[in-house]
Amino acid sequence: MSETNHTTIYEAIGGERTIRRIVEAFYPRVQAHPDLGPLFPEDIMPVMEKQFMFLTQFFGGPSLFSDMYGHPMMRGRHMPFPITPKRANAWLSCMGAALEEIGLDPTLRRVVLERLQGPAYHFVNTEDDTTE
Ligand code: HEM
Repeated sequence: MSETNHTTIYEAIGGERTIRRIVEAFYPRVQAHPDLGPLFPEDIMPVMEKQFMFLTQFFGGPSLFSDMYGHPMMRGRHMPFPITPKRANAWLSCMGAALEEIGLDPTLRRVVLERLQGPAYHFVNTEDDTTE
């Protein structure tokens, strides 16, 4: 979306409450996904909290993640995990479904997904599809 009136995506989608709802709709889908679930720990709460903090700042809200953990260096943080193109697509499709589930306006849904597409494909670090 254009940043007319300096509105951030964070504000446009409804701020903290919406980011919370996104994260809460997203992770159950990730955990249930056959290609993604095995990469994540059983105790998903800490991951959800980090994602809440990260997405808040990624979409133009307060810099919660950096304040707590320093420079995001997100690609580096994903290096221990085999991220294939297939997994990037799966991640984005879980996110798309989560945005739909919470009833986000379709235009904003597209904006949010488009913003996440770049990082998702950027985090791809292997073509190897075997899970250890
Ligand atoms: C491309 C597909 C992706 C896969 C398969 C993936 C997978 C993972 C995994 C396995 C973790 C570690 C969970 C743990 O703590 O054990 C993680 C952490 C995280 N991911 Fe992703 N991720 C993907 C894309 C993304 C994207 C697009 C974003 C945001 C733009 C993102 C944000 C995060 C954040 C904020 C963390 C926590 C980092 C930390 O521990 O400091 N991920 N991800």
